[in-house]
Amino acid sequence: MFRKIALSAVTAATLVVAGTASFAAEGTAHIEDVAFPFEGPFGTFDRNQLQRGLQVYTEVCSACHGLKFVPIRTLADEGGPQLPEDQVRAYAAGLSVNDEASNPKLIDPETGSARTLVPADNFPANHAAGAPDLSLMAKARAGFHGPYGLGINQLFRGIGGPEYIHAILTGYTGEEKEEAGSVFYENHAFSTGWIKMPPPLSDDQVTYADGTPATLDQMSMDVASFLMWTAEPHMMNRKETGFKAVIFLIIFGSLLYLTNKRIWAGVKGKKLA
Ligand code: HEC
Repeated sequence: MFRKIALSAVTAATLVVAGTASFAAEGTAHIEDVAFPFEGPFGTFDRNQLQRGLQVYTEVCSACHGLKFVPIRTLADEGGPQLPEDQVRAYAAGLSVNDEASNPKLIDPETGSARTLVPADNFPANHAAGAPDLSLMAKARAGFHGPYGLGINQLFRGIGGPEYIHAILTGYTGEEKEEAGSVFYENHAFSTGWIKMPPPLSDDQVTYADGTPATLDQMSMDVASFLMWTAEPHMMNRKETGFKAVIFLIIFGSLLYLTNKRIWAGVKGKKLA
């Protein structure tokens, strides 16, 4: 029995290793693994990193991308960027509304134009540049890369949406071409190899308050981290629940095993005549 189990474990392990190696070699889009602090069973979001990512989003990405599913008040939540309440209010008031046409709630009935945002509002949408909303991007692009879009990279190597976003932001080659009136930029991480988004980041584009050097790589990691938080703000709770469930199942499983042994103790060991 034990030999059988050991044998299948070894076979499974070999398959996984072989699979990872061969899959890694294939595929057109190249996505590097990044060690994010929220990875692993005990990983948590890094509050400073989320604040830096929020800054990159606000100063750079929000010019084209919205975050319309994210309530502004959640910036104060524990486990998130955790800004003080007064800063969240000031942040909301400073956002420019550009989607009042599609969202009548944002129009002030007295003046007829867009009102000031408050923490209870969501981040504005942004349809100006034809760029996708980023609220759920880190989840939407979590598992579709790797060979044939099977999500193998995520399964075996833990490469998910944040790595993809980091790879897009750092994957520009500098080449561009014009096709049917639109400019496309060569990007090794994008599925078709050519993306319509002009390279949004370059070194020292933002100045971080905490003194972290704003390299392209650093800003890309920070904003990818922030976008993971917008897509799954309660990731830590999920991990905690999962961990409790595993402990419970181990204890419950052991008790069942012992009970089972005891119930059958009188029958097992007796020879049938
Ligand atoms: C000048 C406008 C502009 C800015 C600034 C900008 N983007 Fe984009 N972005 C776009 C457009 C347009 C697309 C759609 C590209 C396409 O489909 O070819 C896009 C697409 C994306 C995608 C999706 C790629 C996919 O798989 O579909 C991600 C992720 C992204 N942007 C992240 C960011 C981040 C993060 C920032 C800030 C650092 C940013 N963008 C800044 C215009 C912009």
